[in-house]
Amino acid sequence: SEPWVKMVTAQTPTNIAVIKYWGKRDETLILPVNDSISITLDPAHLCTTTTVAVSPSFVQDRMWLNGKEISLSGGRYQNCLREIRARACDIEDKERGIKISKKDWEKLHVHIASYNNFPTAAGLASSAAGFACLVFALAKLMNAKEDNSELSAIARQGSGSACRSLFGGFVKWNMGKVEDGSDSLAIQVVDEKHWHDLVIIIAVDLQTIHSFAISWRNNSFFCDKLEIRGQRCIVSSREKETSSTTGMHETVETSLLLQHRAKEIVPKRIVQMEMSIKNRDFASFAHLTCADSNQFHAVCLDTCPPIFYMNDTSHRIISCVEKWNRSEGTPQVAYTFDAGPNAVLIAHNRKAAAQLLQKLLFYFPPNSDTQLNSYVLGDKSILK
Ligand code: PMV
Repeated sequence: SEPWVKMVTAQTPTNIAVIKYWGKRDETLILPVNDSISITLDPAHLCTTTTVAVSPSFVQDRMWLNGKEISLSGGRYQNCLREIRARACDIEDKERGIKISKKDWEKLHVHIASYNNFPTAAGLASSAAGFACLVFALAKLMNAKEDNSELSAIARQGSGSACRSLFGGFVKWNMGKVEDGSDSLAIQVVDEKHWHDLVIIIAVDLQTIHSFAISWRNNSFFCDKLEIRGQRCIVSSREKETSSTTGMHETVETSLLLQHRAKEIVPKRIVQMEMSIKNRDFASFAHLTCADSNQFHAVCLDTCPPIFYMNDTSHRIISCVEKWNRSEGTPQVAYTFDAGPNAVLIAHNRKAAAQLLQKLLFYFPPNSDTQLNSYVLGDKSILK
């Protein structure tokens, strides 16, 4: 009979941590030294789209990332593929006369094509969206019955932060206790509707893009596209200098501050952060988010040799936001930085976002390299 192909496509947004994950207690299973909490972005913006296909005519597992074939031999890909294959179930497509039994999945090979709509490895958690999407798509293809939390424990083995992209809204990654990592997984704190008036602004330099698009739904403050040219650039899309894997390893080996953070600080912050989110208490949310970003970067500085992810512009953005929040009496904007210099700014509401953008444009006149995008909370982690 004709060789058949069965395909599944999934789309997964990235997530931005407001209580950071930094440091592993088990590097193979990717088990963290503390819990973390993140916001999942709207899949319309920073997301990965992955198609997985299976066919008896495929002779090996293969993957293409942004159109270029990449090797699947790395442990992280192998772990995800193995874990999903182990959970594969029978499928039957009567119409096309296809029947795949649990046993067949051990011999069948997959082809994977994945696209990011944002720069890879610029500290914008491209691996988070990537592995979440891969695991979700494979699970659907192979008819695995696991729920998203259970799948998150598999995505975690691809990239730690990936486990948090299996849900929309605010998501918590429980570090877990057991040795095999089965309880180190993500759960949803609140869904994307709970605090929908927050606006997330990400300042990214895309080198070649000469405009910035501000697009959020029912946008009433800005036009969709605005040509801007100026002198200075805000941030950078250059690949980060120290990968999160190397950075975390060195921090765990050398930083005493990390021990203190993981044991004494984060457990309390997680409780406070969950409360702020549930109560939509922006003042407390902003305070915790900024403090935790700053402590994460302090821990990087406390690493030997020290790791610098932020640059002068990042520091100036922090000063600008701090000054503004102080002058307002109650905070209007929170900032957070991951393993790169790009600022992620979370505004209380659209009015605050509008004022923030005005300030950013005034203090950081963008040049032809600058792009500012704003995002709303992801309404669904997975579209298809
Ligand atoms: O999952 P990784 O290896 O990309 O590490 C992510 C680390 C941070 O983005 C800096 C923090 C976080 O919790 O996402």
